[in-house]
Amino acid sequence: MKILIDSANIENIKHLTDYYQIEGVTTNPTILAKEQLDYLEQLKQIRKIIGKDKMFFVQTISENAADIVDEAKRIISEIDENVYIKVPAIKEGYKALKELHHLGINTLATAIFTAQQALMAARCGANYVAPYVNRIDNVSGDGIKVVSEIVELFNTHQLKTEVMAASFKNVNQVHKCSLVGAQFITASPDVIEELHSHPSSEISVNQFTKDWQERFGTVTI
Ligand code: E4P
Repeated sequence: MKILIDSANIENIKHLTDYYQIEGVTTNPTILAKEQLDYLEQLKQIRKIIGKDKMFFVQTISENAADIVDEAKRIISEIDENVYIKVPAIKEGYKALKELHHLGINTLATAIFTAQQALMAARCGANYVAPYVNRIDNVSGDGIKVVSEIVELFNTHQLKTEVMAASFKNVNQVHKCSLVGAQFITASPDVIEELHSHPSSEISVNQFTKDWQERFGTVTI
């Protein structure tokens, strides 16, 4: 399972890509609205930091298919042709996904709440689907079960579309997604930090350092 950062914050993106193996960045309108810069400038800065080879996802805003396609073209012309266009799984979104696929533009179907939505989006040509694990849990659903069913459906029907599980509140949700075979997850900087850490690791290292220092008087080899 590969990890992406679900954030548009430059400092967080710089920090996480410096320390960990990160495959790219996903953004959405809410995430971009939190930043101070104009959204296009923010997106260009993110691309500059992560480089052209990393995966980069930008979401459309419009709610009719023709405008979604126009926005996708504009995003690509402003950033670059490697950008993946996130299209919400609403009725007009499916139509836009088909058109974008026809135009050879890479897409991710976002705001997925059921396995059938994911299957329909895949049939429309989406390269990725993003089931919203925590938001499904919040409405008394089972986010991990939805992810698991999507993985199974794509295998059963031999679809190339991959799963980018999204919307996480904690490490356990991410862990369970990795167990059911999600190919990617995108998570907030906080959750990504927590994925890499455990208090007992810190305690162990502190003890090693203390023992070494007491015996050899240094904290290096
Ligand atoms: C993914 O496409 C979304 O940007 C995101 O994961 C939603 O996460 P949230 O439910 O924490 O806002």
